[in-house]
Amino acid sequence: MHIAIDGPAGSGKSTVAKILAHKLNLTYIDTGAMYRAITLKIIWNKINPNDPNDIQNLMENTSISIRNNRVFLDNKDVSNKLRTPEVNKLVSRVSKIKKIRQHMVKLQKEMARNNNVIMDGRDIATRVLPDADFKFFLTASLEERAKRRAKDLKKAGYVYDFGQIKKEIEARDKMDMKRRESPLRRAKDAVLIDTTNKSIQEVVDEILSHIKGGKKSVL
Ligand code: DC
Repeated sequence: MHIAIDGPAGSGKSTVAKILAHKLNLTYIDTGAMYRAITLKIIWNKINPNDPNDIQNLMENTSISIRNNRVFLDNKDVSNKLRTPEVNKLVSRVSKIKKIRQHMVKLQKEMARNNNVIMDGRDIATRVLPDADFKFFLTASLEERAKRRAKDLKKAGYVYDFGQIKKEIEARDKMDMKRRESPLRRAKDAVLIDTTNKSIQEVVDEILSHIKGGKKSVL
């Protein structure tokens, strides 16, 4: 069983995917966290993302894995370091680098092979799991998504400027949608769910009813 959930930042993908993974006994794979982990290494090692040799070298000497919902970078648990403002700022620039995307997509396909997974990201239904059993595309208004991100940052103890968050999300959306290599877009056969005025439970129920209805994602 493969379920793909795509959508922009703050659309509710990961919250909903985690709940569904638990309910349906699937392995949850947060692909955004994988791009965040490689971004963290670029920041820590002061790597120039524009230098193709540095990037090649980086990809050859980096291991990223997910175990029990924890993300490991070179076998170190970095799960609590992935959502800092520094990573937020750089991650879209990093994730549009072709070499990095190719490597991640390959890794994600391997993770799904022989496993029942629910995977969330930007290109899961279009690129990573084009044959997924079920595909969903979550959206929400920019205002609502910025509110959700602000809530997360507040919870983690960061001081933030709401206008700034909105601008950053907008910039990230633009970069994710406009990149050449597997951009953020809805697959033709993905079910569109606008989560703006819906509770987490409502979105979970909506997805479950599609799955239980057994209608697979076919055109
Ligand atoms: O879902 P997130 O906000 O943690 O994702 C962080 C960034 O990673 C996002 O801005 C774009 C990138 N990303 C991607 O390009 N492809 C994916 N499958 C998942 C995330």
